[in-house]
Amino acid sequence: MSPALKLLCSLLLSGLLLVGQPIREVTPQHNPDDLLLVNRQWRISRNYYPEVRLSDVPGQIRSLRPVAAEALEAMFAACKEETGAQLISVSGYRNYAKQEKIYGDKLKRVNGSRARADEYVARPGASEHQTGLTMDLGQKGKEKSTLGASFGETTGGIWLRENCWRFGFILRYDQGWEETTGYSYEPWHVRYVGLRHAQYIHEHPMPLEDYLQLVRTRRLKDALLSPGDLVLEEVDVP
Ligand code: DAL
Ligand code: ZN
Repeated sequence: MSPALKLLCSLLLSGLLLVGQPIREVTPQHNPDDLLLVNRQWRISRNYYPEVRLSDVPGQIRSLRPVAAEALEAMFAACKEETGAQLISVSGYRNYAKQEKIYGDKLKRVNGSRARADEYVARPGASEHQTGLTMDLGQKGKEKSTLGASFGETTGGIWLRENCWRFGFILRYDQGWEETTGYSYEPWHVRYVGLRHAQYIHEHPMPLEDYLQLVRTRRLKDALLSPGDLVLEEVDVP
C-alpha cells in the first residue's frame, strides 16, 4: 500500500472511531454562565465537585450551589405565601458516586433492564444533579405524589410550573419533550438557569437543549451580521 493510501486509511479510521464515541466529558467550571448542559450526550466529569451549601428549606438532600439555594429558599416562601402549600426538597446536589448508587439500585429494581432504568434515572456523569443546580421537589402532605407524575397535579406542582421561572428555575423534563431530553415527564425536577433565561423559556416553552441551540444560533448571527442588519423582533433571546 502506498504511503498516501496508508495515510488516507488511517485518517478514515480515526474519523470512524470519533463518530463511534458520542459521549463527551465537559468541564463545567469553564462554562461562563448557568447554562451548563448535562445530559446523556454531554456528561460531567467524575471529579467535578461544585461548591454547594445546605439550602434553608424543609426536606432532605438540600445542598445546592449558593445561587440556586438562595433562589430555592425564595421560591418555597413565595409558594407558601401564595397558595398555602409547603414545598419540600427531595433531592438536590448528588455527586458522581451517589448517582452511580442510585442508578445501580434502579437497575436492580427493574431486573437489570437498562432501557427501563434509563427512562427516569441518569447514568453516573449524565445527571444534572451533579451540577448543584438541580432540585427534585415534593409537597408536604402529598408524599404519595413524590417523584410521580401526580406531583404535577398538586397545588405545589401546579404553582411550580407557572412560577418557578420567577426564581430562575425551569422544568427540565416536561411532557412531550422526551425525544429531546431523553427522559420521561418529571414535573418535580427543576433546574436553575437564572432569571433571564428562565423567563424566556417560560414564555417560549422548549427543552434546554433547543434553547441552547437558539442561543448559539443567535450569537453566531450577531457575530456575523452588522448591527444594522439584525432583525431584533425575530427571536428575542437574552
Ligand atoms: N432523574 C434525572 C433524569 C436524573 O437522574 O438526573
Ligand atoms: Zn431530578
